[in-house]
Amino acid sequence: MTPQITVVGSVNADLTVTVDRHPLPGETLLGAGGGVTPGGKGANQACAAARLGAQVALVGAVGPDANAEPATALLHEAGVDMTHVEEVADVTGLAVITVDAAGENTIIVVPGANAKVDGAFVAKHRAPVEAAELVLLQGEIPADGFAQAVALARGRVVVNLAPVVEVPRGALLAADPLMANEHEAGLILAQLGLDGVGAPPELAARLVDAGFASVVLTLGAEGALVADADGVRAVPSPRVEAVDTVGAGDAFAGAFCWRLVEGDTLDDAAVFAARVGAYSVTRRGAQPSYPLAGDVQH
Ligand code: RIB
Repeated sequence: MTPQITVVGSVNADLTVTVDRHPLPGETLLGAGGGVTPGGKGANQACAAARLGAQVALVGAVGPDANAEPATALLHEAGVDMTHVEEVADVTGLAVITVDAAGENTIIVVPGANAKVDGAFVAKHRAPVEAAELVLLQGEIPADGFAQAVALARGRVVVNLAPVVEVPRGALLAADPLMANEHEAGLILAQLGLDGVGAPPELAARLVDAGFASVVLTLGAEGALVADADGVRAVPSPRVEAVDTVGAGDAFAGAFCWRLVEGDTLDDAAVFAARVGAYSVTRRGAQPSYPLAGDVQH
């Protein structure tokens, strides 16, 4: 299979606990849940695109432990090409997640096997990176793995630098678009030596001025902003009752990239992606909350 989209990124097992409110430092609270579901920003984005109908390959790593199976189950089910997900000598990435009564989350990630997705690893798994129409990257793998993927990509590069980590400036500026939330946009501007404070439209315009061909700034329930040389445009989000926002940004990114490779404009792709993000927050978990083809209109 020639992938439309190759994701080079993380695979995690998400250990999720629900709480009425998030604990304060030093505080013990009672919670519920404790189940393990598939996660990882790379895997989530691959899963979101594949469930909607994209041909997707994933380059990543898992460990030989019991979490590898639940971490990858929905990727297999969605038809993601897993040929280049290698078992390495470390634990499968683990995310410890709390979700409060308002659906807001905190996440701590233990990289484990994801830390092995470095420059040499990506070079070894270069075939789907070189072949893809679009390569999608996040910030949960080592910076030299990120840079190697950009160097090998022959198609469009889309970057969702979440979390914001230091990556080579030239590799970062290859993003078209750069996708970030408001907080991440400020940190990326700071990484580029620029002022990271301001209203979302200012941040988006400043990122374009910094050298990104295009920028998508996600604003949660408020939708998103699309920015390029033609200016900054607002994209609305449907109003929904959120129960769990984990992985909503990843659902947006995967859906957005699927529509881009299907030929949509940035703006049209963002409108659809906002609908997919809104759908995902009405259900629990990351990948288990993602729509299948036909569940969301475009
Ligand atoms: O974006 C949500 C994801 O962040 C979770 O699935 C978790 O694994 C962390 O990577």
